[in-house]
Amino acid sequence: MPSNFVAKGVDGYEAVMGRWSRRLAVPFLEFSGVPSHGRVLDAGCGTGSLSAALAAHPGLAAIDAMDFEEGFVAALRERKVDPRIRAQQGDVCALPYGDAEFDGVYSLLVLHFVSDPHRAVREMLRVLRPGATAAATVWDNYGGMPAWRMFWDTIVALEPEAADKGPTRARRPMTGEGQLRDAFERAGFAEVADTLLTIRLNYDNFEDFWHPMVYGQGKFGAFFDGLPEKKRDQLRDAVRAAYLCGEGDGPRGFANVAWAVRGTAPRH
Ligand SMILES: C[S@@+](CC[C@H](N)C(=O)[O-])C[C@H]1O[C@@H](n2cnc3c(N)ncnc32)[C@H](O)[C@@H]1O
Repeated sequence: MPSNFVAKGVDGYEAVMGRWSRRLAVPFLEFSGVPSHGRVLDAGCGTGSLSAALAAHPGLAAIDAMDFEEGFVAALRERKVDPRIRAQQGDVCALPYGDAEFDGVYSLLVLHFVSDPHRAVREMLRVLRPGATAAATVWDNYGGMPAWRMFWDTIVALEPEAADKGPTRARRPMTGEGQLRDAFERAGFAEVADTLLTIRLNYDNFEDFWHPMVYGQGKFGAFFDGLPEKKRDQLRDAVRAAYLCGEGDGPRGFANVAWAVRGTAPRH
């Protein structure tokens, strides 16, 4: 299985992450750079946050959007965000494109879910025109997602069996300092540079935080629903207390940090 991502549907993904990946796409493309013309690839497009940000660049002729999840690809096609976006199913470890077809290749929050991320990075380089740029970003899921850590650490302290139901307690591949940069250098990219990108996750109230975290994606929703009502209430109350932090219900904002890397395909 080339993907370790557990998808549960477009609406759930949008609520738990799509609304934030849309926000991250902006500084990510500022860091990556976007060519003034030509064809670009959104590798692991999900519901299309990055493709939509690329579509804001009027000089681009074509935006290929590719993801392993059929449902995400179908939803992106149906939304008809921009006629230049062509969505298709595929595996980033075996990109369904020829060599040197793209003027830019981008991967937003994907490589930490890929079973063989080094192979994926080599594929990003293979499909890139010499002299063009590829870039990737992943959350620092271990230390850079305080809201998610608050959620999972609270849950697991009270219900240890939830430990393997969440995405953030174990460090994922590529999410350690320097790992993305190292992968780009090992793949053979030139002019490799990395940085940290920070956005804020702004929730309207506790329910806006809680519901997507429980039911948005992954295995936790089914596990939670299977718990006795008393335990579910206990977990919800504890996470609520952490979210509220001694004040009344309402908006809370949390910083979220991502590693990002860019590199250029060498001119032979
Ligand atoms: C966290 S989502 C990010 C989606 C989108 N780029 C965004 O930022 O909203 C991770 C995505 O990576 C995709 N993915 C994981 N492994 C993949 C693979 N081997 N090939 C293609 N897509 C993959 C998943 O299907 C999922 O859509």
